[in-house]
Amino acid sequence: MALIEARDLTKHYRLGDQTVQALAGVSLDIEAGEFVAIMGASGSGKSTLMNILGCLDRPSTGYLRLADEAVDSMDPDQLAAVRNRRIGFVFQQFNLLPRTSALENVELPMVYAGVKASDRRARAAEALTRVGLGERMMHTPAELSGGQQQRVAIARALVNDPSLILADEPTGALDSQTSEEIMRLLTALNAQGITVVLVTHEADVAAWARRRIVFRDGRILEDRHTPGAAGMARSDAPAAGQLDDSSPGSFSGEVTGSNGTPAEDPA
Ligand SMILES: Nc1ncnc2c1ncn2[C@@H]1O[C@H](COP(=O)(O)OP(=O)(O)O)[C@@H](O)[C@H]1O
Ligand SMILES: [Mg+2]
Repeated sequence: MALIEARDLTKHYRLGDQTVQALAGVSLDIEAGEFVAIMGASGSGKSTLMNILGCLDRPSTGYLRLADEAVDSMDPDQLAAVRNRRIGFVFQQFNLLPRTSALENVELPMVYAGVKASDRRARAAEALTRVGLGERMMHTPAELSGGQQQRVAIARALVNDPSLILADEPTGALDSQTSEEIMRLLTALNAQGITVVLVTHEADVAAWARRRIVFRDGRILEDRHTPGAAGMARSDAPAAGQLDDSSPGSFSGEVTGSNGTPAEDPA
């Protein structure tokens, strides 16, 4: 059973007397544990698909199952419950609350999920440690670099223990070196078993994924498996601790295997 099973998804938007067809019939299976990059020109329907896969929006027609639940026919409350339970989102612009600490930003999804305050704090701290920000928890977004802000957003995506991370252009606002750091983190989370689907315009970002899907005009133009970049990354992998700007054992310690190397070898 695939984690995501989509058949003939369409999405139309009505704008005045015009109809925009954002998705024109998309069928796709994504298995648990995959790392998928979605590419395609601006306006080709990538974000529309991500919003539907993420239960933020519903298709106009078509069939969608997520972890064997028929999400295409759920009402907004049911969709919100699935979203909370299974999905973490990461966006290009981080979407953090300003003047609010990293810790509180990461606690927010658990406020909505009704987790009690002391548990929220502990889990938020754990997620921040997992992304290498154990020593930056009380910083506000303005006191963090772009890459660190995106790591806070990834920690926020992790707190409800999702099986799926959906990242819509997560490196779009970052320089290439910081992008690589974020891709390394997403790759490590994927190696820990989280399914990752990301949208990107950049070939070198897509190269980290093990499957690449190209969209055109609301349809899948190409869908193929790729070696993934764990391999490329391996040769210039950072020394232990190099990515870690907080404390020993947080970022590099958490995301590598017990032998200190990424968990998976390239095919
Ligand atoms: N809320 C909306 N209302 C009307 N049209 C929309 C809306 N969202 C997206 N579209 C249109 O749907 C098409 C696909 O958009 P989108 O999925 O955002 O593409 P991408 O993420 O690939 O750039 C575009 O033509 C866009 O203008
Ligand atoms: Mg988009």
